Amino acid sequence: MCGIVGYLGAKEKKEILLDGLKELEYRGYDSAGIAVIEGVNLNSFKAVGKLENLVRKAKDFKADSFGVAIGHTRWATHGKPTELNAHPHLGKKSYVVHNGIIENYQELKKELISEGVEFLSQTDTEVIVHLFEKYNSELNEPFEAFKKTIERLDGAYATLLITKDAPDTIFFAKHGSPMLIGFDGDDVYFASSDTAIIGKADKVYYLEDGEYGYAKSGEVKLFNSKGEKSFTTKPLDGDKLSAQKDGYRFFMEKEIYEQSRVIVDTMMGRVLDSEVTLEEVNESFFEGIDSIKICACGTSYHSALATSYLFERMAKIRCDVEIASEFRYKEPLLDKSTLFITISQSGETADTLEALKMAKRAGLKSLTICNVDNSSIVRESDVALLTRAGIEKGVASTKAFATQTMLLWILAIYIAQLRGTLDRETIQKEIEAMRHSPTVLKVTDELHSKIHRLSKRYLHGHGFFFIGRDIFYPLALEGALKLKEISYLHAEGYPAGEMKHGPIALADSNLFTIALMPKTLLYDKIKSNVEELSARDATILAISPEPFDLADDFIQTKQAIHPMLEFFEMMVITQLLALEISIRLGNDVDMPRNLAKSVTVE
Ligand code: F6R
Repeated sequence: MCGIVGYLGAKEKKEILLDGLKELEYRGYDSAGIAVIEGVNLNSFKAVGKLENLVRKAKDFKADSFGVAIGHTRWATHGKPTELNAHPHLGKKSYVVHNGIIENYQELKKELISEGVEFLSQTDTEVIVHLFEKYNSELNEPFEAFKKTIERLDGAYATLLITKDAPDTIFFAKHGSPMLIGFDGDDVYFASSDTAIIGKADKVYYLEDGEYGYAKSGEVKLFNSKGEKSFTTKPLDGDKLSAQKDGYRFFMEKEIYEQSRVIVDTMMGRVLDSEVTLEEVNESFFEGIDSIKICACGTSYHSALATSYLFERMAKIRCDVEIASEFRYKEPLLDKSTLFITISQSGETADTLEALKMAKRAGLKSLTICNVDNSSIVRESDVALLTRAGIEKGVASTKAFATQTMLLWILAIYIAQLRGTLDRETIQKEIEAMRHSPTVLKVTDELHSKIHRLSKRYLHGHGFFFIGRDIFYPLALEGALKLKEISYLHAEGYPAGEMKHGPIALADSNLFTIALMPKTLLYDKIKSNVEELSARDATILAISPEPFDLADDFIQTKQAIHPMLEFFEMMVITQLLALEISIRLGNDVDMPRNLAKSVTVE
C-alpha cells in the first residue's frame, strides 16, 4: 500500500510533505516523490529507496509562498521501483499521485498512445495525468476535465492532481483506497491516513467511496454521483501514537486485523485471473533447478515449513527446510541445482544472512521472501520477492507471517506452472482459494469477543500443546511460539501423530491442548489423535468447522474449499488467543521481555 500527502496553503510545503510521508513510509518504501506548484513555478523531486534519499535530494529546495503540493511513498505494483515509476507522475504541466490500481489502464494507455501521448513510466497511474491533460485541452476547464478523467477509471484509487492551469487548486477523488481532508484555518491537507497530518490539521473529513472534488484557497467542494455534497468535519485527535494504533490497544492487535488487507497487497499483480505471475523474476531463473532448500528463523521458518508441503505437493519439487542457525554449522552438502530460498521479515537476521552467503559461496541461485526492501538479505539475494506487509511494529510477527505464507504459496503455484505439474482446473482452484483468503482473515467482533471470553480459562496450567498435521503442524508450531513469546507461558507445537510417541505422558487436566482440526485435510486422523488426549483427561480447545463432542472449548471455523483457507482462519484464531491471554496477564505484548524485532546477532 502506498501513502499520499497533499497540502494547499502558504506554509513551507516540502517539510509538510516529507513529515507526512515519514509517517506513511511503513506502507511502502521503494521510492518516493513530491511535486509543488507555486504560481508559475513547478518543482518535483523523486528518489528510489527510503524516504531519506528524497530528503537528501530535495535538501536545498524551499517552497514557502502560497501554492499546492502533493507527495507519495510507493511500493511497486505496476512497474519496477525506479525513479521514472515513482509518483508524482508528470504530464505536460500537471502532476498526479495515486494509491490503488487502475484496472483498465492498459486500454486507456493504448488509446492515449494512439493519440500521440508519450508515456514515461510503466505504471497504471500515469494514464490519469494524460487523460486529464487531454480533456483539459478539449474543455479548457480543469475541474470538468478531472471529473471526466475519473469517470473513465475502473478499479481502486485515491488520487490527487495539481496543474499549472489551476495553480491554486488540488483536485481529489477517492474510490476504494483511503483518503481524508484535513483543515487548519484556510490551510487544507490531504492524506491517505490521518497520522500524516496529526499536529498540523485540527479538523478532518474522511472521504467516502465515489467522492471527488477540489480544494482552492480555503474552500473545499465535494461531489458524488448525486452532485454537490455538504460534509461535516470531525476534530482530529493530536495523539500520534494512539493514531498510529488506529484505536487498537497494541500494534500486534492492529497488525492481526490488518492481515486481510495486506494479503491483498501481497497478491496484487501476482495473482491474475487464470495464472500467477512474478514480475521480479524471469522464468529462465528456474532453469536447471531440481530442488529447493529454504532457510529461515522463528516465525519465518514456520512459514517455510508450512509451504514446503505445497512445493512438494503442487510443484513436485523436493523442498527441504532448515533453521538458519543449524544450517550454518552442519557443513551442509549443497548442490547447484538447488534453489536457495531465505525468508525474513526484517531482512537483517544474522543467521539467515550468513546461511545465504554460504549458499552463494557454493554457487547456488538465491531468492528471498522479505518484507523490507533494500535490507541486507534483499541486497545479497539474486532475486527478492517483497511481502508488502507494511512495517510490522509488534515484536511478535503476525502479518509478516501471513504474507510470507501467501507469497510462498504463490511461488509454489508459479513453479508448478513452469514445471507443468498442475492442470488448468487445479490452478484455477488455487487462484480462487487465494482470492478468498482476505475473507477468512477478517476478524469479526463475534470471534474476537469469544476468544476474549475463553482466554480467561487459559491463564494457568502446566503448559500448552498446539497440535496439527500436515501444513497445520507448522501452524501449531507458530501458534505455540506466538503464545510463549508474549504470555511467557510454556507452549509447544507438535505433529498430532507424534503425541503418543512421548509427549502424551504429560496429559492431564492441567495440560491445555489447542487442536487444529481442519476438515479439508486428514480430519479423521487428527480427530483420533485428539480423542487419545481427551481419554487422558487433557483439556481440549478444538478449532474446527466440525463440532467435536469431546472438546472442553470449541471455536467453530468456516467450511472451506481449500486447506490454506482453513490455515489462515486458524492462524488468526491462534494469534488472537495468544494476544488475549497475554493482555489478561498484564504483559506488554508489543515489546515482550528478552526479545527484539530484528535479530542482527548470531
Ligand atoms: C516471532 C518472530 C521471530 C522472527 C525471527 C526471524 O514472532 O518474529 O521468530 O520470525 O526472529 O526474523 P526475520 O523474519 O526478521 O528473519
